[in-house]
Amino acid sequence: MRVVLAPMEGVLDHLMRDLLTKTGGYDLCVTEFVRVVDQVISDKAYFRACPELKNAKAYGCTTQIGTPVRVQLLGQNPSCMGDNAAKVIELGSHGVDLNFGCPAKMVNKNRGGAVLLKNPEDLYKIVSAVKNSVPEEAIVSAKIRLGYEDKSLAIENAQAIEAAGANEITVHARTKVEGYKPPAHWQWIAKIKQHVSIPVIANGDIFSFEDAQKCREVSTCKDIMLGRGALMLPNLGQVVKQEADLMPWVDVQSLLLNYTQCETYGDKSKYYPNRIKQWLKYLKLQYSEADVLFQEIRILKTAQEIIAKLS
Ligand SMILES: Cc1cc2nc3c(=O)[nH]c(=O)nc-3n(C[C@H](O)[C@H](O)[C@H](O)COP(=O)(O)O)c2cc1C
Repeated sequence: MRVVLAPMEGVLDHLMRDLLTKTGGYDLCVTEFVRVVDQVISDKAYFRACPELKNAKAYGCTTQIGTPVRVQLLGQNPSCMGDNAAKVIELGSHGVDLNFGCPAKMVNKNRGGAVLLKNPEDLYKIVSAVKNSVPEEAIVSAKIRLGYEDKSLAIENAQAIEAAGANEITVHARTKVEGYKPPAHWQWIAKIKQHVSIPVIANGDIFSFEDAQKCREVSTCKDIMLGRGALMLPNLGQVVKQEADLMPWVDVQSLLLNYTQCETYGDKSKYYPNRIKQWLKYLKLQYSEADVLFQEIRILKTAQEIIAKLS
């Protein structure tokens, strides 16, 4: 079984990738999406989104522990997506992932993300352009939902992505309209899987060892992707792979302190306070202590104040 750490914009940055992959169990990480509109994005912007690229040519694009990291692109213009894909591969990304699931209104209004699921031909054009722009051996993956309003194109969309040459596909088992409303429809992943021959990675609502087992059984997928669950339970990768014990709160506290080592963003930045508050919102679903801590730091604005509370 491969376990992939999901892309999560606004929460799952490079430092979080380092912390979570060090706890074990993860085989691949996908970055937060990089928005591609009508030009090739600068090296600087790619290094900001994926600092692991800085040493990629020498050591490979990996987290500190050595887990491969793949850049995710979100865009609607096939040739521009192709040019940007060529660039991220040239910079050393471990393949390129294409976001066809983003539900954000602004993104969809500009014809990016989940809205593309309304027309399999659009998916085909983007994946083809990307595949034709990168070296043959570069992995091109796509991440989809089951559809936009309904699931009627779920199979056709996956087939279009395969026909365009993608190497693998991740399915978040909900439509755009279903948002994050439970349940995730894992049985739909099995339907898709029957109609494509590339590897399919199952995603949605895996929060425990039992969920992972059930999801793999129902979806018939070997591989899974973990998103919110990985933030709620920092050693979920290990839990789903080895049925490890849940990480005790005292170890989570150490991770929260380690997260303050984020050297990319200065102390004055709102970055760290915002991100740690986001993380605590997930952690409190698993640990009551996280809720108490969240209430304590909720109104704090600087990294130093928060670090003082954590220490
Ligand atoms: C806050 C947040 C940010 C997300 N950002 C991205 C993203 O940048 N790219 C992407 O493909 N999916 C993104 N997703 C979707 C997740 O990768 C995943 O598909 C979804 O959360 C379902 O999986 P889960 O139940 O394991 O969380 C995001 C989800 C959340 C909650």
